[in-house]
Amino acid sequence: MKLSLLALIGFAAYASAAPAPPSSHVVHEKREVQHQKWARRDLKLNRDAVIPMSIGLTQSNLDKGYDYLMDVSHPQSPNYGKHWSLEKIAETFAASPETLTAVKEWLTGSGIAEDRIRLSKGRNWFKFNATVEEAESLLRTEYGIYTNVETGNDHLACEEYSVPAHIQEHIDFIKPTVHFDAYVKPKRTRRDLQRREINERDMKVKPFPIAHPGVAVTPEVTYSLANCYEYTTPECLRALYNFSNGTLDVSSYGIVEYTPVAHRQADLNLFYSNLQRQIPSGYAPVVDSIDGGTISVPESEDNNGEADLDIEYAIALVYPQKVTVYQTGDTVEGASFGNFLDALDASYCSGDDSTYDATYPDPESGGYTGSEACGTITPASVISTSYGYNEADLPASYEVRQCNEYMKLGLAGTTFLFSSGDYGVAGNGGQCCSKAKCAGGRYNSGSSGTFNPAFPATCPYITSVGATQIKPNTAVTATAPEEACETVIYSGGGFSNVFPMPDYQSSAVASYFSSHKPSYSATQYNNSETVRGYPDVAANGANFVVALDGSLVLLYGTSCSAPTFGSVITLINEQRISAGKSAVGFINPTIYENPSAFNDITSGGNQGCGTKGFTAVSGWDPVTGLGTPDYEKLLSVFMALP
Ligand SMILES: *[C@@H]1O[C@H](CO)[C@@H](O)[C@H](O)[C@H]1NC(C)=O
Ligand SMILES: *[C@@H]1O[C@H](CO)[C@@H](O)[C@H](O)[C@H]1NC(C)=O
Ligand SMILES: *[C@@H]1O[C@H](CO)[C@@H](O)[C@H](O)[C@H]1NC(C)=O
Ligand SMILES: *[C@@H]1O[C@H](CO)[C@@H](O)[C@H](O)[C@H]1NC(C)=O
Repeated sequence: MKLSLLALIGFAAYASAAPAPPSSHVVHEKREVQHQKWARRDLKLNRDAVIPMSIGLTQSNLDKGYDYLMDVSHPQSPNYGKHWSLEKIAETFAASPETLTAVKEWLTGSGIAEDRIRLSKGRNWFKFNATVEEAESLLRTEYGIYTNVETGNDHLACEEYSVPAHIQEHIDFIKPTVHFDAYVKPKRTRRDLQRREINERDMKVKPFPIAHPGVAVTPEVTYSLANCYEYTTPECLRALYNFSNGTLDVSSYGIVEYTPVAHRQADLNLFYSNLQRQIPSGYAPVVDSIDGGTISVPESEDNNGEADLDIEYAIALVYPQKVTVYQTGDTVEGASFGNFLDALDASYCSGDDSTYDATYPDPESGGYTGSEACGTITPASVISTSYGYNEADLPASYEVRQCNEYMKLGLAGTTFLFSSGDYGVAGNGGQCCSKAKCAGGRYNSGSSGTFNPAFPATCPYITSVGATQIKPNTAVTATAPEEACETVIYSGGGFSNVFPMPDYQSSAVASYFSSHKPSYSATQYNNSETVRGYPDVAANGANFVVALDGSLVLLYGTSCSAPTFGSVITLINEQRISAGKSAVGFINPTIYENPSAFNDITSGGNQGCGTKGFTAVSGWDPVTGLGTPDYEKLLSVFMALP
């Protein structure tokens, strides 16, 4: 974080108790359970130290956001595809004049002079600098220093804070307060990166002949449609999902990577020469650097695995459409989803603070010295992300605000795809929750407990992609060749503890419960049948042949599935755009209306938390969603729309 902690720590020996909130104040946010990762240190703060405060204002018209999005995304809407400009979006959702007045009156009445208060460009954040004393008095709280026991990083936070009752409706949340840092981590850990070396002799004895294009590589394995169940290649995916290569260069596809994870061009070249020969060596994605994002990172499986996988498949499947890599965050701090969203939408900026999001410029620690990206990137029509959190890692208020941003970018016409997680009904690393709802991120080792859903996979404004595999010894051309992925990983899926069920999936989820009600109790997951179920769709996630650090290896995970599904949507956009239509934007309302455009997956499960998890069944299920795409069928659905 950017605050100088030395400046914050005072030597005052007096005990300071938080003043009791007067009756007109109400607790606005409170940390329900102490987070295991964070220990409060016994240090007194210097009461004159300055804290940069941000107040997230309640936005207008958010209650209408769902309907606005349906208006441009529902297949029966006459306005289908008529996406909004970012200006219109910012204008529609900016805080109302009543909100601005009420909050400003509260601040000035509490001694924060008007000329100290700044309103963000998007009219949704008030920012001001306050001393510890002022902030504690304003929010009836007591700040302290908390140390992350894993990283040793210190953060400023409090246990709860209060605001006047009449102000509460005008405020989303105030930072820094109860929230803790949770940087984005790739979904796959080393366990998932479990690799089987395809040709040990080639690997160890002679490096692949990257420098000798045209020289045939003769590995022992010949990739073919006959062995797709062991080696998944671009050719296998085209056969499975009924598509062929692209022909034009009219549509756009973005892949998000968080530094230090980055691709290696040498690996892309190795991949083309083995698996996609019509792509010339040296063919590169566009790299858009966000907040100091760089692809110059030390070569390692952890650094290159995710990005090589995502980008090799995205390029192979959509070529000659351009793939853009949004390389986000510097090598020192890294970055968050929030930093990335800032780069796409200026109206989202100013909401960051050092508890969640990286802060730039960052000269002291040798990081990126430029200013934070804010509305500097034009979003691609389809954006795939293979990173995620557990829902319980972050406060619900933060997740709701971020999810609403996906709603806005959906209005602007972008399709957001996220992998659904690799641990079945458990969370990242296979962890489950020892308490109902995972309050406070209290996780166990995963052999029992409450299911642990993923974020943003459960956000209703994105498309969440689960994983399948080809059944053993089965031809790609067989009837129903796939089942839920149970090799190395299990498809993330289940029901949200944060988001209500969106209308577009209510009938699919209702059929699931009426025909296949799972036997788990309300202490294992929210079985109220009123919350968001995920994933929405699935695609193959097993045995992907990837060129990684100079050799061909097999990778697994919903990290394979999301870029694959995104490629199918990008090729549909290619056809729509060349027919003079818009990109498809938010696809969920259309796909749930057209389940027959998917290959229904009806076997396999997503075990976790000491259970078998859910089971893939006919119709939508919380393992593989609606199923895997049939490009030709989906194309006719989307081409029939205006
Ligand atoms: C708070 O103080 C910092 C450091 O002096 C300054 O850069 C920043 O602009 C100030 N913020 C506001 C809202 O005045
Ligand atoms: C598409 O695939 C065919 C057959 O594999 C190949 O000959 C052609 O070069 C490819 N075209 C593009 C643009 O990739
Ligand atoms: C399940 O979700 C519903 C709707 O959000 C909520 O009212 C209910 O309290 C949740 N159940 C549990 C056990 O958390
Ligand atoms: C591929 O798409 C065509 C056109 O919709 C359809 O007739 C055919 O059944 C599909 N192939 C497979 C294997 O589903």
